Amino acid sequence: MTDQPLLEARDLRVTFQLPGQGALPWAKPRLLHAVGGVDFTLMPGETLGVVGESGSGKSTLARALIGLAPADGKAIWQDGTNLIGLSPRRMMRYRSQIQMVFQDPLASLNPRMTVGQIIAEPLTTHHKGLGRDEVRRRVKDMMDRVGLLPNQINRYPHEFSGGQCQRIGIARALIVQPKLVICDEPVSALDVSIQAQVINLLAELQRDLGLALIFIAHDLSVVKHISDRVLVMYLGRVMELAGADQLYADPQHPYTQALLSAVPIPDPELERDKRIIPLSGELPSPMNPPSGCVFRTRCPRAQERCAMDRPDLTGGAHLTACHYPGALSPEELTVSI
Ligand SMILES: Nc1ncnc2c1ncn2[C@@H]1O[C@H](COP(=O)(O)OP(=O)(O)O)[C@@H](O)[C@H]1O
Ligand SMILES: [Mg+2]
Repeated sequence: MTDQPLLEARDLRVTFQLPGQGALPWAKPRLLHAVGGVDFTLMPGETLGVVGESGSGKSTLARALIGLAPADGKAIWQDGTNLIGLSPRRMMRYRSQIQMVFQDPLASLNPRMTVGQIIAEPLTTHHKGLGRDEVRRRVKDMMDRVGLLPNQINRYPHEFSGGQCQRIGIARALIVQPKLVICDEPVSALDVSIQAQVINLLAELQRDLGLALIFIAHDLSVVKHISDRVLVMYLGRVMELAGADQLYADPQHPYTQALLSAVPIPDPELERDKRIIPLSGELPSPMNPPSGCVFRTRCPRAQERCAMDRPDLTGGAHLTACHYPGALSPEELTVSI
């Protein structure tokens, strides 16, 4: 690894304008802050896990990085270019270096194209001069690499299982030799028995090809083994960002502790005795986020100050955005919130 980040997000924001209530022409548009000022760095070859409950802005963050969401702020690529606000033509140049793998494997593949055509598409888009035989050779190599049978190149997506479809999606992402692959909940739609196979495949490819990965999941257990660092998101903001080992062993933010407490422990005795930190209520609307710390309305430790000032993300290698970080005591856990 070099010291130079592959990608550096600074105050990255995504705001959607929704039509005003009542749909009258003079109704003021409402603003939905899906991503509200996110900072992180990603080193070449690093895997960053991104977790948070549904609606916390994970997919929108991913889409912002490839120019598919209306973003402000900065996402500086290795060469110094800010990816935010690039024209579609200039974004094309970066799209071969940043690829995505989506959640729903079958829905994200064109049903009328053969597997060979699907995997070849990014290659023929970004490398127009390649001959047909060369394209076919590379597609077959890539199919082999992701554990698909190269002689199935003329089959259609519906002839494959969910796990195999996700392998097709991965092959398609990797065929242009990207530096970064953003996996948006790549295993959430798969059977639990298949999830580990796909995660292991991604980990293996990541290691062999020196790829950086942004691996999005709503569950902390999914990203534990694959991530170098983990970013915990809540209502469009970063709550905690730390090395995976530190984050799981010594979570500082009450939200991370709540998420972790819900992860099942394999040891039945520990599982029986553990305490699940309850999160009261629903995720607030990003149209009307709480003042100060966005988590305070569900936090067992919230004080007056939390409603007044938004906590900065601070702490060197183990970053936390909380005025009162640290492990929750047993008394705090029994407080009804
Ligand atoms: N195209 C869009 N237009 C309006 N609101 C959107 C759009 N995409 C996402 N949102 C809203 O942004 C918030 C974050 O969504 P999303 O990024 O999909 O969260 P996650 O991936 O963490 O579940 C949600 O409130 C969602 O309804
Ligand atoms: Mg999502």
